[in-house]
Amino acid sequence: MKKSLLKVIAPLAAASMLLAACGSDDSTGADGEIKKLVAGTEATFAPFEYMDDSGKIIGIDSEIVDAIAEETGIEIEMKHVGWDPMLEQVKNGEIEMGASGITINDKRKKVYDFTEPYYEANLVMVVKEGSDVKSLADLKGKKVSVQINTTGHEAAKKALGETSQDIAAFENMPVAIMEVINGSTAAAIGDNAVVYEYLKNNPDAKLTVIEDTAFEKEYYGLMVKKGNKEVLDILNEGLKAIKENGKLDEIVKKYTGVTQELE
Ligand code: ARG
Repeated sequence: MKKSLLKVIAPLAAASMLLAACGSDDSTGADGEIKKLVAGTEATFAPFEYMDDSGKIIGIDSEIVDAIAEETGIEIEMKHVGWDPMLEQVKNGEIEMGASGITINDKRKKVYDFTEPYYEANLVMVVKEGSDVKSLADLKGKKVSVQINTTGHEAAKKALGETSQDIAAFENMPVAIMEVINGSTAAAIGDNAVVYEYLKNNPDAKLTVIEDTAFEKEYYGLMVKKGNKEVLDILNEGLKAIKENGKLDEIVKKYTGVTQELE
């Protein structure tokens, strides 16, 4: 290598090594310790994540994340990126975690790691008042709307067939429910607390919720890329603390009115 070129490259290399040691962005401190995390979410999912009039993300997940941040001294920023993008960005490491009412399941565990559970949920169906759909079995031959790539979507595939043309999958749950209201689909399948919250906020929608024992219990967890033990440990530490000091139950009660009995 020419000497003059080396003169240019050497300081650059040294500078980049220094940068690497300090962390590549503002998410780690000079010692390489994590300072800040970005939590991706899909914020049309009240009461877990939704926006107030100023566009600020509020809800159960947002408060849980804030409480964990307070416990661990690590800043966590909630960011509305959308459901599918959240799954993608956690997988490729663009963001460190997902906090989005995410159900812990075996399929996802191949790609992600989850914290301990923080909420117990169940799928329900929502139909128009007076509908002849009374159970999951009644859905055969009917159109069903869901939020894409959610457990509700999986349940619809199980009920109607993997490649059924009768499943309409949307980016978010409010749109899936809107399809029922405007008569495009006979039912929507989604998470219980979210469907009940929708009905509470839209009392004129004339909808009925149907619970079916065929839906299995689900548990929400915070999600990181598989193998990201460093972030997972931080989240579990914070979660443990807010389970023990009653903060988690307080948050859930504040938004749902119900005292949850986890496990
Ligand atoms: N719990 C369901 C799942 O994990 C739905 C979650 C959807 N979350 C959201 N913020 N839209 O598949």
